Amino acid sequence: MSFRTIEWRDDKVVMIDQTRLPGEEVYIEYSDFKSVAEAIRGMVIRGAPAIGVAAAMGVALGSREIIADTHESFYQQLSNVCDILARTRPTAVNLFWAIERMKRVAEAHRDKDLNSIRAFLKAEAISIEQEDLQICRAIGRNGAALIKEGATILTHCNAGGLATAGYGTALGVIRAAHEAGKNIQVFADETRPWLQGARLTAWELMKDHIPVTLISDNMAGFFMKKGEISCCVVGADRIAANGDTANKIGTYSVAVLARENGIPFYVAAPISTLDLSLENGEAIPIEERHSREVTHLQGLPVAPEGIRVRNPAFDVTPAKYITGIITEKGVVRGDYERVLKRLVGQ
Ligand code: MRU
Repeated sequence: MSFRTIEWRDDKVVMIDQTRLPGEEVYIEYSDFKSVAEAIRGMVIRGAPAIGVAAAMGVALGSREIIADTHESFYQQLSNVCDILARTRPTAVNLFWAIERMKRVAEAHRDKDLNSIRAFLKAEAISIEQEDLQICRAIGRNGAALIKEGATILTHCNAGGLATAGYGTALGVIRAAHEAGKNIQVFADETRPWLQGARLTAWELMKDHIPVTLISDNMAGFFMKKGEISCCVVGADRIAANGDTANKIGTYSVAVLARENGIPFYVAAPISTLDLSLENGEAIPIEERHSREVTHLQGLPVAPEGIRVRNPAFDVTPAKYITGIITEKGVVRGDYERVLKRLVGQ
């Protein structure tokens, strides 16, 4: 990759600042877990798998900040670190999945000295990051087969290298199809209000010389109806047991439009984005973000002062609109309930 989303370097966590892209490519170093929590909340890093990696590295950093005389005090403080990181963003399940994984490692080494436990936590966080990159490549390989020669693929938000440890999920599928020599192009929805499509997807695809055309969100139906879109591929923040999928606000509208126009609609996501504890999408917590994201663009007001605003950051696409869910273990089509359970090994 021509950029690094997040890495553990010299016992610091380094992230590309996604709030400043595409204008500036700036990397920020974090040496305390509270700043990592702030970076997740403030969307310096965003995208479900990347948030998971950041949280895991945050736990590892936090473990190094703890001053404790006893194991009891260490574990108590570590639990507080995990709670603070878990309160940053509610929708992407990868955040909670990664924190749970870190807690399990800490538990498994209770009999070791504190510095060894810290070393195990650091190693686990780095593994989560490295595994995610491998998983994205597998998702890419599995999904590329669904992309036809000459296809125009519509994507929403940014499910790319910036949203993962690298390569991406939805953009992983696109990258793999491009690398396989298919002559494809991408339509990127700008993705109001935070503009992940315009600022991030357009940036990383252009960097990789993958043909990309930017459209505003309300243009998707126009191009679908004209027959200019071959398929849609998006990422996911949480997938319930029945396949209902939470993703960036506006994804549901894209899926309904795709169905109306007879266009396949695919979700690309790692197994860590599945939340089989939820029967369906209704139970997925939806983050509501600050009104300023809607009323302002680049700090400038685009709405009258004092206007009432709603700003849900995600919506849920019912499984019936999803043609297939592309995972690192294969593509699931229909009968999500049974097959997703099998994939997770339950
Ligand atoms: O609010 P964001 O930018 O974190 O939302 C990101 C998305 O909705 C992505 O599509 C999703 O996390 C998948 S990332 C591979």
